Amino acid sequence: MDNGSGSSSLKTDPKRDDSSVVGAYHTPVMLEESLECLALCEDGIYVDATLGGGGYAEAIIERAKSARVFGFDTDPAAQRYASNRLARFGERFVLVPENFASIADALRARGITAVDGIVFDLGVSSHQLDTDSIGLSYRIEAPLDMRLDPRLKKSAAEVIANSDESQLAQIFRAYGEERFAGQIARKIVQARTEARIETTTQLASVITNGLREDKRNETLSRIFQALRIEVNDELGNLRQALEQAPELLRDGGRIVVVSYHSLEDRIAKEFFRKESAPRFEPGSLGGLKEAIDLARARLRLLTRKPVAPSREEVERNPRARSARLRAAERIARSIARIDEQ
Ligand SMILES: C[S@@+](CC[C@H](N)C(=O)[O-])C[C@H]1O[C@@H](n2cnc3c(N)ncnc32)[C@H](O)[C@@H]1O
Repeated sequence: MDNGSGSSSLKTDPKRDDSSVVGAYHTPVMLEESLECLALCEDGIYVDATLGGGGYAEAIIERAKSARVFGFDTDPAAQRYASNRLARFGERFVLVPENFASIADALRARGITAVDGIVFDLGVSSHQLDTDSIGLSYRIEAPLDMRLDPRLKKSAAEVIANSDESQLAQIFRAYGEERFAGQIARKIVQARTEARIETTTQLASVITNGLREDKRNETLSRIFQALRIEVNDELGNLRQALEQAPELLRDGGRIVVVSYHSLEDRIAKEFFRKESAPRFEPGSLGGLKEAIDLARARLRLLTRKPVAPSREEVERNPRARSARLRAAERIARSIARIDEQ
């Protein structure tokens, strides 16, 4: 998978060209809260697992005077934009044009086996939504592609064309939490017998056909979200990356996850719960299970409940509305490994 790092290896795909971008590429969400949870060390090594426009990476490099940041992104437009933005920091920024699912291997290939912090700011950037040439938004006419990584094999149009009715219904139910998943899948299977569904607007008109006006946007949002998650295996990637994180973190290192829908947040929540020490009732020592869980714990939770953006941030940037932040700290290995002695 590793095809080299550094902006010199990047080719421009005219369909994904970002050279016309002026103004904001993406406004970072919950940046201050994330930095606070990372508790930056001056000379730390950090991973920005979702580089996007490079807002987080830039803030880390600026605030921790000799820190280095390894920035992952699979989208060539994000790679180019962030590389340009961060070029002034020289070797303190390293682009990793890889899926974060291969976080440990990609870092090892660059000589890194331990880091001080990892931050995930999941989902898609404003740039990806607003200059949408790959069909992420039902509001913009575009080919039904949805691949955030152009190396992926299967587009959204292929998922729509080649999945059977029950597979489509399952995708809409599992990844869009859509109540009428079965009915929508049936409409799609019916429509595709007449013409192949190739564009966002074609798909949107099939889905909204016969649907009440006031239900249309929320239904379209759920179905488009579900397809994007399926095409990019977003939940699988997150699970894989999280599993690798505790071993990558140095003792006291921090992990921060900012998610934008309940499916991602649930994965982060369950992972943190599995990896963290149990909580004892005041005055209780717990039982054998709690003792084993305590010995096995690799993380200490920094957030018992998910942190939401401030009202001011949501007013300034409505796209921050659904963000939820969870964070944890790597427990020192000498404590975590008592069960292995
Ligand atoms: C919300 S944006 C990040 C914005 C960034 N924090 C900033 O301040 O500009 C999410 C980015 O993660 C990237 N991304 C999503 N899934 C990824 C994955 N599995 N591996 C690498 N990058 C991914 C997307 O392409 C997108 O550019």
